[in-house]
Amino acid sequence: MKIAIIGAGSTYTPELMEGIIKRSGSLPVRELALMDIDARKLDIVGDLSARMAAAAGMDCRVVKTQELDEALSGADFVLGQIRVGKLPARVLDEQIPLKYGMIGQETCGIGGFFKAMRTIPVMLDIARRMETLCPDAWLINFSNPAGILTEAILNHSKIKMLGLCNVPYNMTKSIRSKMELPEARLTYVGLNHLSWITGIEQDGRDYLQDALAQGLNSETMKNIPSSGFSQELVQTIGAIPSSYLEYYYFKNKKLDLLKKAEQSRGQRCMEIEEELLGLYEDAKLHTKPELLASRGGANYSEVAISLVDAIWNDKQEEHVVNLLNQGALDFMEDTDAVEITAVIGKDGAKPIPVRGLDNAHIRDYMRMVKAYERETVEAAVSGSEEAAMRALLMNPLVGDYDAARACFDELKEAHRDYLPQF
Ligand code: G6P
Ligand code: MN
Ligand code: MN
Repeated sequence: MKIAIIGAGSTYTPELMEGIIKRSGSLPVRELALMDIDARKLDIVGDLSARMAAAAGMDCRVVKTQELDEALSGADFVLGQIRVGKLPARVLDEQIPLKYGMIGQETCGIGGFFKAMRTIPVMLDIARRMETLCPDAWLINFSNPAGILTEAILNHSKIKMLGLCNVPYNMTKSIRSKMELPEARLTYVGLNHLSWITGIEQDGRDYLQDALAQGLNSETMKNIPSSGFSQELVQTIGAIPSSYLEYYYFKNKKLDLLKKAEQSRGQRCMEIEEELLGLYEDAKLHTKPELLASRGGANYSEVAISLVDAIWNDKQEEHVVNLLNQGALDFMEDTDAVEITAVIGKDGAKPIPVRGLDNAHIRDYMRMVKAYERETVEAAVSGSEEAAMRALLMNPLVGDYDAARACFDELKEAHRDYLPQF
């Protein structure tokens, strides 16, 4: 089995390596192609990855390459974790919107919109190469914005693909633990970074109302300065929101926090990244260092590699993934990418229908943000600035035309090296 990691110079790669090593009993990985365009990071992270594989006694050839085609040729799985423009581009997405009174964030609002504009063309190129070089391979993508990328790739290419995020895993794990219901079956609905838990069932009883009465919050993410949801708020919504909903439900408070912050999250991540690379350079290191836990990617290896395992070994297991709705939610279009539970096996993912979702707030919120996402993909693919404006007008974190237009122009200029479509 061959796995290709695109964007392997990411300091997150040792996290993935840990997952691959942990499951090497059931995943016979014989070749690992580590691809990145950044030679320095590829070298440092690639060497650590090779040392980790060797120390674990894996019978696996680890190849570092800057050539996409070499990495993709004959791959069974392609793991996508690219960041076009790297962290400095993220910092622009975080800082420029603040000048226009809007939230600046990696995946939400107009910052996330520009991340989509930069990333969609590159991911579609990767998908096109996969159609030729490894047409049967699965693309497992956690490049952000993961949901919008799923929408773009599955509607604009022929490859097999699933989008991933660690939020669903962390949310469900945290709710089971806080409710002391280890076997609970959770109903998870939403779009990526816009999701809710709408059911908590165990032994034939639904505990959602108990959770709402307690004002239960789910996961806390390292990367979100958390204010938490009050009991009143969760009761009002009638579901448990993911922590990314804080940007929407507490827009003003979050904006204040972002404006007051000494540095943006991306700037902090740049410091952590350099520190990590320093540690990774130590030739004696052959495990994932503790410092990596200060990034937001907790459990992401488990999420990604358990999914590979479920496909390869036809496990028919339930995972929350980003995929096309295909009728699972009756209030969404079949071709809308959604983040819901699916049964995973060798033939891919079958979304589990969620019928009669009795929550108009969630249905309507998802449809509004999906309208934003569809126009976003349209703008990314066609370069239509009118589609871009229609997208931004539908986004609850943008909305205002004058602010959107002015901020769009500034971000377009700032990112011009990475925006082939405009
Ligand atoms: C979580 C989210 C990712 C996001 C990351 C940010 O893992 O699910 O989509 O990219 O946090 O973490 P960072 O450390 O980069 O701020
Ligand atoms: Mn995510
Ligand atoms: Mn143009």
